[in-house]
Amino acid sequence: MAVYASILVSDAGPIARVTLNRPDKRNPIGPATCGELSHAFAELKARPEVRVVVLTGAGGSFTAGNDLADFVSSVEGADARPADQDAPVTRFQRAVLRARPLLVAAVDGPAVGIGATLLLHCDLVYATARSYLQTPFVDLGLVPEFASSLLLPQRVGPQRAAELLLFGDRIPAQRAHELGLVNAVLPDADTLREHVDTRVAALLAKPAGALALTRNLLRGYPDERINERSALESTHFTERLASPEAMAIMRSFLKR
Ligand code: COA
Repeated sequence: MAVYASILVSDAGPIARVTLNRPDKRNPIGPATCGELSHAFAELKARPEVRVVVLTGAGGSFTAGNDLADFVSSVEGADARPADQDAPVTRFQRAVLRARPLLVAAVDGPAVGIGATLLLHCDLVYATARSYLQTPFVDLGLVPEFASSLLLPQRVGPQRAAELLLFGDRIPAQRAHELGLVNAVLPDADTLREHVDTRVAALLAKPAGALALTRNLLRGYPDERINERSALESTHFTERLASPEAMAIMRSFLKR
């Protein structure tokens, strides 16, 4: 496996672990990280022995979501363009959608923005009690991404999705569990790790062919609606990113 700057990838037989690893910045996911994640996902997909990928974050955060510093510098550098098929974030999203191994998220701490919407694409999500999900797109002057404007209403119902996407409040892990967005809530990082290890071992003991097919049926992919919605969101997202409204909010966050 390649060595990366912002993620750690370890694999041991059928289980790989991908750790977002910029804890000083709360593991944001900017273009460079998206590029590394896409590369790592491709490497893992190409290894037939890898059947489960555990996604996690270092240092008590899952991820603070999109890298706001990169957003600001991309607009200031007049580099803001619609996220086309080759954009790092699009490649990352495609890699997640087309992942062959099962995706298991182990969340400890904040899962914000794309950190929360990514969870909608994981097969299983486990979180510590202190964790929360948050989709503060409107508060940032932005719009939802990663097909979350499609998937969240499907998962939690349109009214609850409106509450989550319009207000952008923190959703504590226990509430996310009640909403069906998290499979189980564990007391702390140690018990989270033990629980994930136990559940992954139980999965790997199942008949492999039936497990893989059932997982694909559950995901329902390829689902063109997901690609279409992501593309539409991305067009609006890019427009919003360059807006004075969004830029002022992001600059003020970075200057605190
Ligand atoms: N992009 C870039 N840098 C980020 C970031 C992000 N999304 N989130 C945090 N950081 C940086 C901060 O600027 C800060 O950098 P500094 O130490 O150089 O000043 C560092 O990470 C620590 O952030 P801080 O806010 O002090 O950490 P915290 O533990 O108190 O709070 C969060 C964690 C996640 C609640 C908070 O950082 C936050 O709200 N981040 C923004 C989330 C967001 O809006 N994401 C975009 C969604 S589209």
